[in-house]
Amino acid sequence: MRVTVFGIGYVGLVQGAVLAEVGHDVVCVDVVAGKVEQLKQGISPIYEPGLENLVKENYKAGRLNFTTDVAEAVRHGDVQFIAVGTPPDEDGSADLKYVLAVAESIARNMERDQIIIDKSTVPVGTADKVALHVASVLAERGRADLTFDVVSNPEFLKEGSAVADCMRPDRIVIGTSSKVSEDVVRELYAPFNRNHEKIIVMDVRSAELTKYAANCMLATKISFMNEMANMAERLGADIEMVRQGIGSDPRIGYHFIYAGAGYGGSCFPKDVQALIQAAEGIGFDATLLKAVEIRNDHQKRMLFDKISAHFFGELAGKTFALWGLSFKPNTDDMREAPSRVLMEALWEAGARVQAFDPEAMEEARRIYADRHELSLCNTKEAALEGADALIIVTEWQLFKAPDFEFIKSQMRAPVIFDGRNLFDPVRMSKKGIRYYSIGR
Ligand code: UDX
Repeated sequence: MRVTVFGIGYVGLVQGAVLAEVGHDVVCVDVVAGKVEQLKQGISPIYEPGLENLVKENYKAGRLNFTTDVAEAVRHGDVQFIAVGTPPDEDGSADLKYVLAVAESIARNMERDQIIIDKSTVPVGTADKVALHVASVLAERGRADLTFDVVSNPEFLKEGSAVADCMRPDRIVIGTSSKVSEDVVRELYAPFNRNHEKIIVMDVRSAELTKYAANCMLATKISFMNEMANMAERLGADIEMVRQGIGSDPRIGYHFIYAGAGYGGSCFPKDVQALIQAAEGIGFDATLLKAVEIRNDHQKRMLFDKISAHFFGELAGKTFALWGLSFKPNTDDMREAPSRVLMEALWEAGARVQAFDPEAMEEARRIYADRHELSLCNTKEAALEGADALIIVTEWQLFKAPDFEFIKSQMRAPVIFDGRNLFDPVRMSKKGIRYYSIGR
């Protein structure tokens, strides 16, 4: 099938590459010429395991192309994917300007009937808005004879395993009331729908809400566990024991019940906020979602509060080693990362930070270019030198079995603040390390 994908970000690029890999003829289009040029040279603008190779090979094979030429791109596709960003507005609601701009481009350039597939995370009702917009442009062009359908097809990929998630999706949600569109989208995804049925067809609004409901449910699980962790600390219980105790109930499950330094990334914070705003828009008070967000904001301050309490509020002039800048392992993404809230609070209190991350160093350099209170170190060992304490914010594999004697030898005092509960508190105390973790 001939496929056009608007937006070369996480979702668009991965989806485009994966569709090409199974044999579709894909053109990805973006307004940023630099990205298109980079991709043609085989360089991926984002770090994602397996992506660069997939892009290179499919580009070489001629199944995957990149362009900034909107008219050419629209002409190419039998289906047109919208996979552009929906950044938060000032009030947290999703900003649809990029989505509607793509709708406009499609409407201005389409010369035959089209199926428009929305993959961006968009508020309920967006497909209807897109449809209205396309219809009005077609009318203006005198091409009201052309027909089209807007399908909602949300993306559930996770950063760090985006390619694998797309190659082996656990479900494929198709939101449409048109049998014709359903059949076309089914055919498109047939290579990913082997073994057992993964396609779930529903009306367009339910599909749009499914995406938000999934992310908000996961964020709720995390905030719930963080709330339990806070209570466990005060009650003398251990959240890691509680986690195993409840996770064994299949109705609860082991996934997404890890207490920690709070959730970050490009999805959870934004989507929880957007759904709260959407509720407000229809006169509904989403009390549970608001609490989820408040708990997460507190949780992102938790490590700082523990550090501040340990040093009796005297942080000025102190140096902290920090391991892990990205919002989670296997990505260089620092959007809404707990590390940022922590570092900014430490700087505010007059402390310095020596940080290391396996992938996010360049990103940190970009964000904090003018911060002299931040030293970016080449290794996790170098970050320890002369530090008053070590803080672990992201659970990279590389941090899970460090040489504790070496850590002790490098720091001014053997203190670890662990935002991801990587170590056993009893073992730490036997090693003579003052160890703070979450909920224990
Ligand atoms: C998420 C969804 O999982 C994905 O389905 C959706 O399409 C996009 O948003 P992502 O943001 O890439 O994906 O990361 P995810 O692995 O879900 O982690 C989100 C955040 O939650 C991270 O900051 C992580 O550290 C945190 N987290 C996760 C916890 O604090 N505890 C957990 O138990 C799980």
